[in-house]
Amino acid sequence: MAGKYFIKTFGCQMNVNDSEKMAGLLEGMGYKKAESPEEADIVIVNTCSVRAKPDNKAYSFIGNLKKLKRENPNLLVAVAGCVPQKEKEQILRFPHVDLVFGTFNFMKLPSLIERAREGKVVEILHSKIPEEDRVPLIDPSLENPYVAYVTVQRGCNRFCTYCIVPFTRGRERSVKPELVVEEVKRLANRGVKEVHLLGQNVDFYRHGKTGLAELLHMVSEVPGIERVRFTTSHPAGFSEEIARAIRDIPKVCPYVHLPPQSGSNRILERMNRGYTREEYIEKVKMLKEIVPEVALSGDFIVGFPGETEEDFEDTLSLVEECGFDQGFVFEYSPRPFTKAATFPDDVPKEVKNRRLTELQELIKKQALEKNKERLGRVEEVLIEGYSPKGTELYGRTLDNKPVAVEGSEELIGKTVKVEITQVSPFFLKGKPLQKE
Ligand code: SAH
Ligand code: SF4
Ligand code: F3S
Repeated sequence: MAGKYFIKTFGCQMNVNDSEKMAGLLEGMGYKKAESPEEADIVIVNTCSVRAKPDNKAYSFIGNLKKLKRENPNLLVAVAGCVPQKEKEQILRFPHVDLVFGTFNFMKLPSLIERAREGKVVEILHSKIPEEDRVPLIDPSLENPYVAYVTVQRGCNRFCTYCIVPFTRGRERSVKPELVVEEVKRLANRGVKEVHLLGQNVDFYRHGKTGLAELLHMVSEVPGIERVRFTTSHPAGFSEEIARAIRDIPKVCPYVHLPPQSGSNRILERMNRGYTREEYIEKVKMLKEIVPEVALSGDFIVGFPGETEEDFEDTLSLVEECGFDQGFVFEYSPRPFTKAATFPDDVPKEVKNRRLTELQELIKKQALEKNKERLGRVEEVLIEGYSPKGTELYGRTLDNKPVAVEGSEELIGKTVKVEITQVSPFFLKGKPLQKE
């Protein structure tokens, strides 16, 4: 008889989506969701290794499960995702782990579990990259019933010198457009209103003749879907065609996550990013000309090997020139297998720390200034549920800004017109307009 499952997810949205699909598979086997690892019969840790921090967190979470396993020897402990993909031996050293699998195997979860239960042996399947078309369509168990992720592209071919993703997620593969549309239709039938198309470099999505712009058209035609977003865009792949798709397809939201990583040409080259500072700024200009209301967000790495104060100043000035609504700043963290790990990690921790704060402050200031222009404006907000405190409703604007909204339960799952009454750098507050 099936019991309860608990999945702990670290890392990016793609990992979240993989976990939701694993949950869907487990529910198909009769398992029910547990509220904590303590009440679960199976615990899956879906790991991330993009930086040392999530990597360490995953290891300590796995270590803590030892006690639970001792108390309940029938507990099945599984470790999945990017960490075992790169170093399964390390995970196998934990005697309380029953099942280890990488980023390519989650679709086989039911048979993996059965085999791990039977002989209580560790099963390791990994790194055989399936033809993407053969990845079966799996209905995810949704955390949020109105907003869902749809993975349309996995892997990366670009080998930025700092990045482990090409080693943990393999080469770039795009999902057949018909399969994407089928998945979106099934989500729409379940009441989903907004889909986020996910890819490591989603703007390089290509299957036969179909590129991202065409895919956006196809997905937008699915009845019931009100909003379509996509992430992450790579500056080298972001094209005018995609910008025009945002402008021309009403359902495609004016929000682009376009990570520059650095504003210094010297560092961009050492990172092997494949574009210059000037080309990045040109792309943003093009995007803002075509879609003036677009919200721009990005990722930044500070303290990359050899980053001087001058290089960092170049990043600050790129941010000044482009204008960001949101930004995620990371301190450089050397990763195994990557080329940059062979460069001396020569920016001291305190300098990384200071640059991180300085850049975050600048982005915060910009975001607040942009948000202030919204005071008194009326925005369309898709209400997703209650805010974490539970006292207000929570939703997002078309350009992806989180908003706390006064109002009651009947608004959940609806798109409402909201007057913005308060703003902070990354959060808005508002009240719904009275219905005439
Ligand atoms: N899978 C992700 C992309 C990769 S990682 C996605 O689809 O969005 C996300 C971000 O982590 C990168 O944009 C980069 O800013 C940061 N990052 C990657 N490797 C890093 C490293 N070694 N040190 C610090 N930050 C890193
Ligand atoms: Fe982390 Fe990258 Fe794996 Fe996503 S793909 S979970 S960011 S290592
Ligand atoms: Fe990583 Fe660069 Fe690819 S950031 S995911 S190697 S584009």
